[in-house]
Amino acid sequence: MTTLDVALEAARAAGRILAEAHHSRRFDLAKKGDVNLVTSVDHACERAVRQVLARHTPSIPVLGEESGGAEQVATRWVVDPLDGTTNFVHGFPWFAVSIALEIEGRPQVGVVLDPLRDQAFTAVRGEGAWLGTRRLRVSDTASLDQALLATGFPYDRRENLDLYLSRVRAALLHTRGIRRAGAASLDLARVAAGQLDAYWEYNLEPWDVAAGRLLVEEAGGRVTDPTGQDLDRSKPSPLASNGRLHAAMVEMLAEPD
Ligand code: IPD
Ligand code: CA
Ligand code: CA
Repeated sequence: MTTLDVALEAARAAGRILAEAHHSRRFDLAKKGDVNLVTSVDHACERAVRQVLARHTPSIPVLGEESGGAEQVATRWVVDPLDGTTNFVHGFPWFAVSIALEIEGRPQVGVVLDPLRDQAFTAVRGEGAWLGTRRLRVSDTASLDQALLATGFPYDRRENLDLYLSRVRAALLHTRGIRRAGAASLDLARVAAGQLDAYWEYNLEPWDVAAGRLLVEEAGGRVTDPTGQDLDRSKPSPLASNGRLHAAMVEMLAEPD
């Protein structure tokens, strides 16, 4: 069994729980912060993922959003058991399970599973990004005025409102449009699939980004921080694009007026 098979099996175990709970609407809700929700389903999904990972790769430590773990290690699984919790809570059908295997600090295997559409976006470094058996390619859009972008607003948005809104304003002025769908891993997967031309967000966590980042890179795109530098693995602010738009996106985010 490859590590990609392991990640897929783990994602599907969580995906079954998510799909069932989305339809039954049975879950408990709590708050981690002002607008940061967590449900019994986030926890159940993380337990399911950890069980599969522990069975097949007991020697690889796991960092998971809900129960922490491997913080300062170079080789680890990085798990967001439910990316898009707010969507899930409201019954908005757009959320995912995100699992990456990082080796020496870089993602080598990534799975983003959308359980309601039964879509598994997968990537292995050097072997491309795939949606099932279809190979993914980023778009070839070459100018911002023909681009469809996505962004997100992390949970610290009240502290950083001006930073986030000034960039949205610029994007609304210079592009065809902007989406805020509410699941970072799926935003990245859609850049990889060529359906979005670029995506950015500030101040995320490792599990939001690790798998989706590999999807974009393996689909021929670029992922850096908003200034064009390497991503900070522990507090990533991803700018993901089809590559062609990268310099223009860096410029727009640096000088939003
Ligand atoms: C959130 C989603 C959302 C993004 C937030 C994330 P969660 O993850 O990815 O799109 O804007 O910043 O924290 O909490 O639903 O796993
Ligand atoms: Ca997340
Ligand atoms: Ca989550």
